Amino acid sequence: MDHFLYRDGILHAEDVAIPDIAATIGTPFYVYSTATLTRHFRLFDEALDGLPHLVCYAMKAASNLAILKTLGDLGAGMDVVSGGEYARAKAAGIPGDRIVFSGVGKTRIEMREALVGGIRQFNVESEPELQALNEVALSLGTKAPIAIRVNPDVDARTHAKIATGKSENKFGIPISRARAVYAEAAALPGIRVMGIDVHIGSQLTDLAPYRAAFEKVGELTDQLRADGHEISRLDLGGGLGIPYTQGNAAPPLPLEYGNLIKEVLGDKGCEIEIEPGRLVVGNAGLLVSSVIYAKSGEDRDFLILDAAMNDLLRPAMYDAHHDIVPVVEPVPGVDRIAYDVVGPVCESGDTFARGRPLPRLSPEDLVAFRSAGAYGAVMASEYNSRPLVPEILVNGDQFAVIRARPSFDEMLNRDTIPSWL
Ligand code: LLP
Repeated sequence: MDHFLYRDGILHAEDVAIPDIAATIGTPFYVYSTATLTRHFRLFDEALDGLPHLVCYAMKAASNLAILKTLGDLGAGMDVVSGGEYARAKAAGIPGDRIVFSGVGKTRIEMREALVGGIRQFNVESEPELQALNEVALSLGTKAPIAIRVNPDVDARTHAKIATGKSENKFGIPISRARAVYAEAAALPGIRVMGIDVHIGSQLTDLAPYRAAFEKVGELTDQLRADGHEISRLDLGGGLGIPYTQGNAAPPLPLEYGNLIKEVLGDKGCEIEIEPGRLVVGNAGLLVSSVIYAKSGEDRDFLILDAAMNDLLRPAMYDAHHDIVPVVEPVPGVDRIAYDVVGPVCESGDTFARGRPLPRLSPEDLVAFRSAGAYGAVMASEYNSRPLVPEILVNGDQFAVIRARPSFDEMLNRDTIPSWL
């Protein structure tokens, strides 16, 4: 459920009419709903009611400071994967003891910054990383709290580019080698073992792969405890999918996911951490764009928008589907045209949808891409020297620009021409 509904025939974000935002800041832009963000975060938090837990929002999905602050004020922790994300979490006021640091390639500089600034745990993904973290912690005279990310060799049954839990993926330590690596970790004076971490992939639409992974984590918890390790935290990653197409079978709800966690791991006496990203913010955001031209090709009708693949990469990168809706509500039964919806970038891959049935649209009409809040703005670039797409946050009847569109001068001023030219 989200808070983007038609009122009097006009699409609104909560109580704000989308055309009012477009008139103020121009298009394209991302717009997020505070009420939807809040609701989705709480669904996860409540799903784990009764267990000690921390919901660490995976900020790679959308990392604007205003979004982080909104979630942080609700009690969210953060899952970060780079020094930049760590800096964002801190700038949004998230205390270090609510930040977990994931990622296969943490640098020593990133480790040092997090140890100095405060960190709940590092999710360590390899033995060389373990050794590096030990050295950095010792150089600071401290111990680094860790979980080890195990790769459970489970098929997440999702798009190959976002599956992470099979042995052929680069992530984690093979679960078969976990006991040896925990023994190695326990012997390092700069390391404090806290728990186990697992994340099997993104946009999961079925609980079965989670069950398989969580059962393996449960067995490993028992084995590691028998080996003498103190396992007090289980980080179960993120990945719960969202409905991208209205009317299609919906993925499991956070409540069902929470019940599965309780069923499989609830008796371990561990604090549970989860790292949802997409489900928190995906349906809390729209990308709003204007039609530049509608043109007829030999046998296709093209709708050329002012948003492009650089603003929303998911269709070009994963063949992802996003519902596209006119901001003025179509009259029921109106004739539809099968448009190829494209952007202005000079690549055929700059195609959002092929043969998408939409009412006839004209230049300056507004359209909205649904489910664009996650992996939308964060994956945007300035390809074709198109300014980075701005972001807006709505709360009730107010809206604020939370990232402004850069001017051409700002873009040009980032470059420097060397003195010899
Ligand atoms: N934790 C870890 C360690 C992750 O790698 C990820 C996502 C998450 C949590 C959050 O997963 P989520 O709840 O958002 O599914 N750009 C792709 C998605 C990449 C996901 C990467 N890792 C897309 O647009 O579909």
